[in-house]
Amino acid sequence: MDVTIREIQTADKAQWRELWNGYNQFYESSVSEAVTEKTWQRMLSEHSSIEGRVAVVNGEVKGFAHIVLHEGTWELAPICYLEDLFVAPDMRGNGLARRLIQSLVDEGKAKGWSRLYWHTRENNPARKLYDQFTDVEDFVLYRMNLSGRGV
Ligand SMILES: CC(C)(COP(=O)(O)OP(=O)(O)OC[C@H]1O[C@@H](n2cnc3c(N)ncnc32)[C@H](O)[C@@H]1OP(=O)(O)O)[C@@H](O)C(=O)NCCC(=O)NCCS
Repeated sequence: MDVTIREIQTADKAQWRELWNGYNQFYESSVSEAVTEKTWQRMLSEHSSIEGRVAVVNGEVKGFAHIVLHEGTWELAPICYLEDLFVAPDMRGNGLARRLIQSLVDEGKAKGWSRLYWHTRENNPARKLYDQFTDVEDFVLYRMNLSGRGV
């Protein structure tokens, strides 16, 4: 199995879109076409802090990691938030998610990011993987919906 982790690129759109649909189904949410398109454009734009990495298996995009680089009040260097992580159901258990996360660790060290973080549901089985990277913290998440829409 030939696996490459690389930055997302324009030609990935159709395959990324299929995975994105699967990701939204997993979360039982529906992201509007306008948001999906904007998310896609932002990932390819130099002027956005949203970026995408993909896992390519034998030439096909089979997984993605979406990240947001942001500033912080406690750090000088950029902080990386891993917002979305997804692997195609037919490719799970092959280490793709592990490689996607590890590539962010490696990239962050090389580029001088100060921190990488993500959150997940308490009962997400993927925590078995996450626990291999770092200890879980005891912060809890408070979130208010200010838009009047679902998410
Ligand atoms: C979570 C997800 C990205 C993992 O992708 P993956 O490529 O299958 O993960 P890996 O193969 O790199 O997993 C590595 C390890 O974690 C474990 N693991 C990862 N996801 C798991 C899951 N859903 N259930 C059970 N174990 C899991 C594997 O058993 C493996 O452990 P091992 O090496 O000790 O056997 C994938 O299951 C997925 O897309 N799930 C739906 C979306 C989701 O939950 N995203 C994360 C939201 S925070």
